[in-house]
Amino acid sequence: MSKEVLLDKSTMIVSETDMKGNIIYANNDFCKIAGYTKDELIGKPHNIVRHQDMPKIAFKGLWDTIGEGKTWNGIVKNKTKNGDYYWVNATAYEVLKSDGSRRLISVRKMPTKNEISYAETLYKQLKKEEY
Ligand SMILES: Cc1cc2nc3c(=O)[nH]c(=O)nc-3n(C[C@H](O)[C@H](O)[C@H](O)COP(=O)(O)O)c2cc1C
Repeated sequence: MSKEVLLDKSTMIVSETDMKGNIIYANNDFCKIAGYTKDELIGKPHNIVRHQDMPKIAFKGLWDTIGEGKTWNGIVKNKTKNGDYYWVNATAYEVLKSDGSRRLISVRKMPTKNEISYAETLYKQLKKEEY
C-alpha cells in the first residue's frame, strides 16, 4: 500500500524548469519529500513525480495558464520515488532571466485538508471521464 508523505507548515518545495518542463533546479525540500537526490532530478522531465491519479486536464490547465503569461495555482497529487504520494498546493509561473532566457518556476506549500478532499473528489470524476 502506498502511504501519504505529509508536508509541514514550513515545507516549501521549489523547482525551476526549462520551457519544456525539464528540471533545472530542485531545492532540498523537493528532494526530501519526493525521495530523490538532486542529481536524480536535474535534467529529468517534471512528470518524474506525476501520480497516476492526476487527470490530464489538470496539467493542460497548468501549461495553458503559464503559456499565457499568467500564474497558475492548483492542488496536485505527486508520487515519490518509492511509490508513496504527497499533496501540494502549487503555484507556477514564467520568469525572464537577466540573460534573456525564459524559465518556469513552481513553489509548493502544504494544502489544507479541505483542499485535498475537494481535489480528490474532482480528480476522481475527471479521471472517469478520460475513458
Ligand atoms: C514549473 C513546473 C512544475 C511542474 N510540477 C509538476 C509536479 O509537481 N507534478 C507533476 O505531475 N507535474 C508537474 N509539472 C507538469 C509536468 O511537466 C507534466 O506536464 C505533467 O506531469 C503531465 O505529464 P505528461 O506530460 O507526461 O502527461 C510541472 C510543470 C512545470 C512547468
